[in-house]
Amino acid sequence: MCPPVHFAVEHSINPWMDPSVPVDADRALAQWRALRRTYEGLGHRVDVLEPLLGMPDMVFTANGALVIGERALGARFRAPGRAGEAPAHRRWLTDHGVDVRMPREINEGEGDFAWTGRRILAGSGFRTSPAACTELAEVFDVPVAPLHLVDPRFYHLDTALAVLDDRTIVYYPAAFSDSSQRLLASLYPEAIIATADDALVLGLNAVSDGTHVVLARQAEKLAAQIAERGYVPVPVDVSELLKSGGGVKCATLELHRATTATPAGTA
Ligand code: ARG
Repeated sequence: MCPPVHFAVEHSINPWMDPSVPVDADRALAQWRALRRTYEGLGHRVDVLEPLLGMPDMVFTANGALVIGERALGARFRAPGRAGEAPAHRRWLTDHGVDVRMPREINEGEGDFAWTGRRILAGSGFRTSPAACTELAEVFDVPVAPLHLVDPRFYHLDTALAVLDDRTIVYYPAAFSDSSQRLLASLYPEAIIATADDALVLGLNAVSDGTHVVLARQAEKLAAQIAERGYVPVPVDVSELLKSGGGVKCATLELHRATTATPAGTA
């Protein structure tokens, strides 16, 4: 995670960002600290990336790479203003023993790539290039399922889909092309389907450890749906980050194990 000390919305690179709406930087930092404490309270280690001046989106660390085990594919941002984040991530990961591969194609890391423990779901349409799928398969040697995003409000895969464990996902179908909807339905017939209301507060921008699901507190129906399936919803307030089109998951780069175990009773 990276604290939003230089957080701002000064330009607009997604439909959520309106530079005329003021951002409360102190509030953003307080919400970020509460999110960090939430993870730590659940027993997870949080490493902190040093925020860089002039990088107002650096709080969204999910975009910095995809990390699975000892290997990572570094990011290559579409927006020139975010390009400087990529080397900071690469450096941190390399310093921590991760073998980071340089990207050929544009990819915004876990923003568009979701590791399920079995395969990588790879989103494209607004940011990440569809050609990044080939690179993913080369770097990680796992199956890759390409998904096409069609609604600009859901410009990254992690705004429209979350992995709860290695067999369960939750998503908002209308964010995907017809053929991607068919692919998701065939891969995950038991998936939880989110409502438009919950998708529109970026409720799907959630982080699951297989048991607990940390998500935006406004996504109330989604929390109930998740609880019905045996997970523990952990609501948090990330309303300031939403002004930049981000949420819980965007603010979290996961250092995935090479395989994810499914806790008993949740699949
Ligand atoms: N303002 C940032 C951007 O548009 C938000 C990034 C959100 N990150 C994410 N993983 N969805 O690039």
